[in-house]
Amino acid sequence: MSGHSTYTPKSAFARWLERRLPLLSFIHASFVAFPTPKNLNYFWTFGAILSFMLVAQILTGVVLAMHYTPETTLAFNSIEHIMRDVNWGGVLRYAHASGASMFFLAAYIHMFRGMYYGSYKAPRELLWILGVILFLLMMATGFLGYVLPWGQMSFWAATVITNLFSAIPYVGNAITTWLLGGYSVDNPTLNRFYALHYLLPFIVAAVVGLHVWALHVVGQNNPTGIEVKDEAKETVPFSPHATLKDSVGLVLFLVLYAWLTFFVPNYLLHPDNYIEANPLVTPAHIVPEWYFLPFYAILRAIPNKLLGVIALFASIIIVAALPWLDTSRVRSAVYRPAFKKLFWVFVAACLGLGYLGAQPAEGVYLIAGRILMAYYFFHFLALMPALGKIEKTSPVPDSIEEACRAASAARADAAKKAKAHA
Ligand code: HEM
Repeated sequence: MSGHSTYTPKSAFARWLERRLPLLSFIHASFVAFPTPKNLNYFWTFGAILSFMLVAQILTGVVLAMHYTPETTLAFNSIEHIMRDVNWGGVLRYAHASGASMFFLAAYIHMFRGMYYGSYKAPRELLWILGVILFLLMMATGFLGYVLPWGQMSFWAATVITNLFSAIPYVGNAITTWLLGGYSVDNPTLNRFYALHYLLPFIVAAVVGLHVWALHVVGQNNPTGIEVKDEAKETVPFSPHATLKDSVGLVLFLVLYAWLTFFVPNYLLHPDNYIEANPLVTPAHIVPEWYFLPFYAILRAIPNKLLGVIALFASIIIVAALPWLDTSRVRSAVYRPAFKKLFWVFVAACLGLGYLGAQPAEGVYLIAGRILMAYYFFHFLALMPALGKIEKTSPVPDSIEEACRAASAARADAAKKAKAHA
């Protein structure tokens, strides 16, 4: 699917390089000539935004690491030192902390986009599964990073999450001790979390390479969910079309990122994390970062620890099974009226779980959590398989070209009507 390599090296150096390592023609085929469906909307800019955020997190993280000390008596103060003494340290630290939130925000939009337009369906199943692996790696990286400032939330979040493994029968306690490097969260834990937090983003980068490679093999989906039939009529070269659109999307996203970093950097951080970790004082409510809240709600919805952990992991793994759970022959929600509604109900259920994850696990909150968790699994295990079989879909155009013509005719019609009214 990669674009035809129309690349011809212009300089003597480029010709020399091309004969030895065709790197430039590879880049040209993948990011210049690559045929992109001409009807992509701004939701398709989030892949580029995510790639940008990964690089931004690695760059800010590497510089932070130059000033941070992964030792329990020094870690908390080294963050204060970065904020107060290091040139641009405050910006750097806030850019990294809010960068994590922005990264997850982009990932969630990217995933929901995929669900709405059926981008997980064949032949993009592996691309989707690689996405779920990326999400798991991002979750691990986010969790490990949150422990490093060694505040109260860092310490207690690490304690709660590592303790989950002790629920595994027979070997649970041994696994927890192995993960912690001791019998409680302490210096060896901080050291290994730091090492892994530094390592994982590079593994993420490698998996992103596979993700984008898989995308280039099968080609991009598009809002209609119809595969490209006539490359000449229905696609445009990636550059300048997609590169420009991605740049516009990225700039808008960066406005939000800059606002968060410069104006409200502590909005998403927990005040308790400005208190140094104290193993003798448990905070009243231990809450994770906002992007973990829906999963935290699922974990706490079940009174049994082991079952809670299983439900938590199942809620992520089930996303990877979506290509097989969705039985519909129509890909995009645009032509699936019932699915379109249920998609938004599902989004609302996820937001509801997120809200409940931040509330105490008791009374009405707990009951609501159980209902929403049941709905979450019901959506994947019952609605997706059944709906595809019974849903009456709208007529799907024969080609992207036909869908585009119908859309512009409808727009012209609406404009005419509006003019007549005025
Ligand atoms: C580090 C995180 C990620 C990065 C850097 C990344 C990057 C990209 C890029 C550059 C694209 C092409 C542009 C676009 O369609 O937006 C893409 C497409 C795609 N990604 Fe990701 N992605 C990430 C995470 C995920 C996750 C978590 C999922 C789902 C679980 C996912 C599923 C997909 C799918 C299905 C497509 C094809 C979309 C289509 O053609 O309609 N990605 N990704």
